[in-house]
Amino acid sequence: MRDVPYQRPAVLDAILADAARTGFAMSCEERTGSLLATLAASKPGGRFLELGTGVGAGAAWLTSGMGSMARLTTVEVDQEVQAVARRHLGGDPRIEFVHSDADAWLTAQEPGERYDLAYVDCRPGKYLRLPDLLALLRPGALYVVDDMLPQATWPEDHQPRVDGFLERLPEVPNWRATPMSWSSGLVVAARI
Ligand SMILES: C[S@@+](CC[C@H](N)C(=O)[O-])C[C@H]1O[C@@H](n2cnc3c(N)ncnc32)[C@H](O)[C@@H]1O
Repeated sequence: MRDVPYQRPAVLDAILADAARTGFAMSCEERTGSLLATLAASKPGGRFLELGTGVGAGAAWLTSGMGSMARLTTVEVDQEVQAVARRHLGGDPRIEFVHSDADAWLTAQEPGERYDLAYVDCRPGKYLRLPDLLALLRPGALYVVDDMLPQATWPEDHQPRVDGFLERLPEVPNWRATPMSWSSGLVVAARI
């Protein structure tokens, strides 16, 4: 079995070329991206959230699966990095780019279950403030994190953070999670 994606977003190569040029090495793996596109396609008209836009690879995958009525909010603290994503994906009216620390963004949110899928790719919403992120998800919404397996870009002290996160997952109330030792290491969970 060759588990390579059957389809790739047309814009992806240009995004990855800019990532290479600017030295950004944290874009999602293609298998993860393909899964994100599939999950996005399962929620026509859904509201999607990405914390940590990076240069836009994840957003390219998500939007490639999203229907025309679906919407993606993607939040990034580094304006320069997000500018690459805006350059490539800014013409897509389904995407709202937010330049903010995800921690501050979470604090600013009105209470309410409104997202159908969250792809959390930075510390807030994953290692920090998981309950605040989960409170924004509708019942049946999906939660996806990657990079659960060791990555070359990790700081030295990161492994215990990941280990603690994985250990706490079974105790999270109202969700059904599956850890996957596949691609960069994923957790896919559904809000109950
Ligand atoms: C792994 S990369 C994102 C890759 C992207 N999601 C993708 O799939 O291609 C993580 C990104 O999160 C951003 N980031 C780190 N801490 C953040 C924070 N507290 N709030 C928002 N973004 C943050 C980093 O600048 C970086 O661009």
